[in-house]
Amino acid sequence: MTVKHEILTVGHPLLRERARDVDPDELASKEIQTLIDDLVDTMRAANGAGLAATQVGEMVRIAVIEVDHNPRYPYKPKIPLTVVVNPVIEPLDDELVEINEGCLSVPNLRGNVMRHVNVRVRHLDREGTAHDEVRRGLTAGTFQHECDHLDGRLFLDRVQDTTTLATWEQFERFHRKAFVERITAFVERVGS
Ligand code: NI
Repeated sequence: MTVKHEILTVGHPLLRERARDVDPDELASKEIQTLIDDLVDTMRAANGAGLAATQVGEMVRIAVIEVDHNPRYPYKPKIPLTVVVNPVIEPLDDELVEINEGCLSVPNLRGNVMRHVNVRVRHLDREGTAHDEVRRGLTAGTFQHECDHLDGRLFLDRVQDTTTLATWEQFERFHRKAFVERITAFVERVGS
């Protein structure tokens, strides 16, 4: 049986700390493998697109990402379940996109942030295998959001125009249509 973790919310000091790297030997431990299973279960139970270990108060550089017809973000292209350990993100160019984001650690608030469109992501998976991939578009944004968590950063820190902040209810009412139109055209252009 897996234990569902409590998701820490903004104001909790651990959300503001940098997580430490996971040693390859430690990665194989029962403790870390159980944490990964719990992160996946907790993310799915909360309908998250991703969840970082820091969001459940575990200060290791591990995040899980999965998008499959997500009810919170129905416009997001699918991402198969991906476990990222010790991720390093590197922008490939200067292209940016403004994405309206939410976060399980910031209940009921969304806002616009600028994200790199094309990034190189290097990480280990849960077996310790190294991956080196290019991620683009909204998918790249999701990876940047989760990696930010591992550095103690929330999307709120990146909101430049605070007038874009909205509760999910008001987003639905006043902003969703225009955002989904813009971002759907973007996803079609970029392909993810
Ligand atoms: Ni988040």
